[in-house]
Amino acid sequence: MSINTALAYRSFGPPDVVLHLQDEDLSPLPRHLARVRMLFAPINPSDLIPITGAYRHRTRLPCTAGYEGVGVVTAAPVSAKHLLGRRVLPLRGCGTWQRYLDCDPDLLIPVPDDVPDDIAARAYINPMAAQILLKTWPVRGKTVLLTGAGSVCANLLADWSFREGADSVSGVYRNPVHIDRLNTLGVQPLSEDALDGIKSTAGRADIVFDALGGPIASLILASLRPGVPFVGYGLLSGMPVTPVGEGGRLERFHLRDTLVGLSPLEWRQRFDELWPKLDERIMGPSRRFDLLDWRDALAFVRESGRRQKPVLVFS
Ligand SMILES: NC(=O)c1ccc[n+]([C@@H]2O[C@H](COP(=O)([O-])OP(=O)(O)OC[C@H]3O[C@@H](n4cnc5c(N)ncnc54)[C@H](OP(=O)(O)O)[C@@H]3O)[C@@H](O)[C@H]2O)c1
Repeated sequence: MSINTALAYRSFGPPDVVLHLQDEDLSPLPRHLARVRMLFAPINPSDLIPITGAYRHRTRLPCTAGYEGVGVVTAAPVSAKHLLGRRVLPLRGCGTWQRYLDCDPDLLIPVPDDVPDDIAARAYINPMAAQILLKTWPVRGKTVLLTGAGSVCANLLADWSFREGADSVSGVYRNPVHIDRLNTLGVQPLSEDALDGIKSTAGRADIVFDALGGPIASLILASLRPGVPFVGYGLLSGMPVTPVGEGGRLERFHLRDTLVGLSPLEWRQRFDELWPKLDERIMGPSRRFDLLDWRDALAFVRESGRRQKPVLVFS
């Protein structure tokens, strides 16, 4: 009997406190499911936030962590035999931070041969969020303001905003190490400390995509012209957005909400659209950590100014 190793949690709390490696015998594969041996899975803020209990109303414990990654199909029902040996994204099932995952074969996303493992592993959370954000709030001809501008998601939003005809994009960063890259992307960099600059830029913005929350997000929201959409999609600061008086229109985005009622065909079509847009130069490099070194990977996530995305390797 083979062993499955998973990074799991039994209670909510700081990820480095509540996560633990757990070995279990691999149970026989139910006939209707496919089994995927994981290769790589990134550690995103989006993976860590639910572990803290932020979404406790929809997270059932105990839980295996991780929302994305790439693996290889090692067993499949007859109806999905064509997937055997293929690289796939095993999403929308249980957590991806484990060596083996059993999934509904209809929801597996085959990875095109020309997409490297490193990009495939990170193809879902941030790229899909950026794609849907820009479809839901189109930016053609608009002045765009982003926060958390050092992040991969903000970089994708910036690059794709220009492709979709945005007039200009400004990005609020924390660590100045990100300035050069923002300039390369054509983004006007704005320091988190330059509150007057943030306020005046917000006063000219037609749309805001906010990953921060907290006082800076609240300042931006209050500085927007009435009715300008302020789309909150992240809380990197760990604090909520507080609307004060007049200002923009607060809207929220959760990728998970966009999956409700999506058919397997529509789900695959989203990736058909996404694959050709994925660009290593925008998504940046990764740094690999063996699953057993997960604590080092978590410490690396917390490093300000990092450019690499930590990725767990299931060797
Ligand atoms: N709602 C959704 O469905 C959805 C989907 C995808 C992503 N997201 C959100 O998008 C955001 C970015 O995710 P990602 O994977 O792209 O991140 P990432 O590439 O791992 O980058 C994280 C960045 O966050 C910045 N940061 C961390 N704490 C901060 C703080 N307190 N104040 C200011 N900046 C801080 C760091 O900037 P410095 O290097 O400058 O310190 C770092 O560059 C997250 O909030 C995530 O939850 C949401």
